[in-house]
Amino acid sequence: MNEQSLYERLGGYEGITAIVEEFMPRLKSDPQLGRFWQNRGDDGIAREEQLLIDFLCSNSGGSTFYGGRDMKTTHKGMKISKSDWEILIGHCSATMETVNASKTECNEVVGFLSSFENDIVEA
Ligand code: HEM
Repeated sequence: MNEQSLYERLGGYEGITAIVEEFMPRLKSDPQLGRFWQNRGDDGIAREEQLLIDFLCSNSGGSTFYGGRDMKTTHKGMKISKSDWEILIGHCSATMETVNASKTECNEVVGFLSSFENDIVEA
């Protein structure tokens, strides 16, 4: 079998960067989710975006090193609710449509993010 990794199917590092560049502004401008990024400096946001790219690349089959923290430690105390979570998943699906990913890749990315729900949602 010669199945390509999800990383390859998403267009590798550049494809995943394009996904994050489409995804993050949606979260920051969302009326309910925007509060998490309010009053944070540009540098902190740029760092977080880079870590998200690294995280997605290294977990989808790329050779990129992820040097950030685990999902539970990172989001602990933010009081992210189930409703916040559902909005994020909606933005993820919309992002995958915008970058013209196929339904298979969209479902895989949504499924991957969903596997962290129990670590991230706490309120
Ligand atoms: C509604 C859900 C979410 C919210 C509100 C949220 C919010 C945030 C915020 C505000 C930060 C910055 C933390 C800091 O600088 O200390 C952060 C970091 C991060 N988030 Fe999320 N996040 C959510 C879901 C996710 C998901 C689903 C993933 C990937 C599976 C993810 C991956 C990351 C990564 C990789 C970092 C950087 C880790 C580090 O600083 O070491 N987040 N998130």
